[in-house]
Parts: sequence; C-alpha cells; structure tokens
Amino acid sequence: MKRIAVLVSGGGTNLQALIDAQNRGEIVGGEIAAVISSTPDAYALERAKKAGIPGYVIARKAFPSSQAMTVALVDKLRDLDIDLVVLAGFMVIVTEEMVKAFPNAIINVHPALIPSFAGPGCYGLHVHEKALEYGVKLSGATVHFVSEECDGGPIISQNAVEVLPDDTPEVLQRRIMEQAEWKLLPQAVSLFCQGRLKVEGRMVRIL
Ligand code: GAR
Repeated sequence: MKRIAVLVSGGGTNLQALIDAQNRGEIVGGEIAAVISSTPDAYALERAKKAGIPGYVIARKAFPSSQAMTVALVDKLRDLDIDLVVLAGFMVIVTEEMVKAFPNAIINVHPALIPSFAGPGCYGLHVHEKALEYGVKLSGATVHFVSEECDGGPIISQNAVEVLPDDTPEVLQRRIMEQAEWKLLPQAVSLFCQGRLKVEGRMVRIL
C-alpha cells in the first residue's frame, strides 16, 4: 500500500473527495495516512478528524520563508514514511527541497486548464476571477506532477468546464470542483498508487 499525505490550507473539499473515494474502495493500492495543514484553523483538519485520519499542522506563519517551511514538511513526510504527496488546495508554493525529496511523487490539482491562469499568484478564487475577466468560454481543472516550476510539471489529466454568462468566481469555482476537480484528483491518485503513471519528459502515459 502506498502511503499518501494530503497537504491542505482551507476548506478541504478535494480532501473530502479523496476520503469519499477511499471509502468507496476507489483508491486502489493506497491509503491516506496523514493530512498536513499550513493553517491551524483549516476546516480540512475537521474532515480528517471525522474520517479518523491523523492531522498535523505545519504553519506557514511559523517559518521565515516558504523554503524553511518546505524543509520542515519534508522532514515530517519522511518521518511518516510517505510515498505520495497530494497538494489539495495547498496555498504554499513548495520549493526544490520537496521536489528533490519526492521526484514525480507530488500531485497537485489546479483549478484551470494549465498553462492558462497558472503560476505564482494564480490560486483559489483568483484563478476564476482572472478567467472571467479574460472572457474565456471554457475553463476547467488540471491534475499534474509538481516540478520546480510553479504549475509547470507534467500533466496527468484535464477536464474542460463551460463558463456561463452570469458566472461569479464563486459559482464558476463550484462548477469546476464538481465537474472536474473532485473526479480527476481521486482518479489520478489511484492510478499513481497502482503504478500506472509513467512520466516521459513532459508526457505522462497512463498504463
Ligand atoms: C481548489 O479549487 C483547488 O484546485 C485550488 O484551491 C481550491 C481549494 O479548495 N488550488 C489552487 O488554487 C492551488 N494553486 P478545497 O480546499 O475545498 O479543496
């Protein structure tokens, strides 16, 4: 069984999608062994507690830089003997120490069709604000491996979602979560745990 750590910062609906998939037996070959939050009051920690999953806080505010925080995170992940790190609404940009410690073993979900509306400053609701400002008719979600370039690693899966004329950022966010993120992330995690994701340069082959 691959040991999965889910890193969170807020509401944790993507964590919930992973927990629900696990309860349905859909995370084949893996188990969520830990939830780590960058904020002490994240509702995601409640979700972990309700599911009986150990929760930990490594607060961004306790460190002078995201690099110092990443080093502490890597130590914790090693202590917990983690095989796969899932960034599920994790609002800290992890630095190279993490990528080197877990090569092609960190998965992120991003709420847009990368390379659009991605990179530093594009997170959470801001992504949907930018998509609406630009006037795109389609947005969506991307699940990808994490590399040293923010939102730049090899893409595992994407789903397009329609943007409707009266959308607010909140409405669009919800539609993208329901139609794309909550499905794609558990599927990708399960494929990883079964050893079915093969990275070849920028391409991810699903075996
Ligand atoms: C999700 O939409 C996720 O894709 C996004 O934040 C939201 C977290 O929601 N992540 C990013 O923007 C990372 N760049 P959640 O806490 O309910 O899962």
